[in-house]
Amino acid sequence: MTLRSKVEISGHWAPYYDRMMDLLFLGTYPRFIAEVIAKMGIQPGDEILDLGSGTGRNARLMLDSVGSTGHIIGVDISPQMLHRARRRCECYPQISFVEQRIEQPLPFTEEFDKIFISFVLHGFEDEDKRRIIANARNALKQNGSLWILDYNEFDLEKVYWPLQWLFRHLECELATEFLQLNLAQMVAEGGLKPFVSHKFLRGYVRLLGAQKQINERSN
Ligand SMILES: C[S@@+](CC[C@H](N)C(=O)[O-])C[C@H]1O[C@@H](n2cnc3c(N)ncnc32)[C@H](O)[C@@H]1O
Repeated sequence: MTLRSKVEISGHWAPYYDRMMDLLFLGTYPRFIAEVIAKMGIQPGDEILDLGSGTGRNARLMLDSVGSTGHIIGVDISPQMLHRARRRCECYPQISFVEQRIEQPLPFTEEFDKIFISFVLHGFEDEDKRRIIANARNALKQNGSLWILDYNEFDLEKVYWPLQWLFRHLECELATEFLQLNLAQMVAEGGLKPFVSHKFLRGYVRLLGAQKQINERSN
């Protein structure tokens, strides 16, 4: 991870992460994530992988959708975020967390119905983004899907100035570059077929769904 990124959240910032998101979303963050999750078509019994799972809030919000027979595994590199996530989800045996870098090979092969990565991918250099997409592809079952929630493509110069100011002060260089990235193309080049794109928050945020096709590489 380079200084160009701010996505690795540890140390004294971790305890304030949820509060900061609540503040930025004026208290609507859980409702926003619930709306996102509803678009993912999660079924009872689904196996879900949450890459960069943070404080476990998203995993907890997905729990109702997977029910008592599904599972959610969160992967994160920050011990402080993992500590908060494990504490939040300790009552739910369907949720567990793994300490691991998501751009390095993951210990999962064709195990998940859905993989979620929320506000994480923008903080990586392109070669690491490609590694994360490849790791996700490998961890997905055939016909499973990757769901990327992150900044949409937009022109920062044209954004209303208070939002532009906030973005420039809170976000990193890589996030600014991410606004120009053709993410759907990168995902397609990684062997997953983008099939749906939902826009949120006036189009500044996008949920991109991409499917792993049945044996598309061996055909
Ligand atoms: C901006 S937070 C997003 C957390 C959560 N996905 C959400 O939407 O609230 C980014 C998370 O990714 C984790 N992270 C950053 N770099 C990582 C890496 N290389 N491997 C695993 N986790 C990473 C951070 O520790 C942090 O918890």
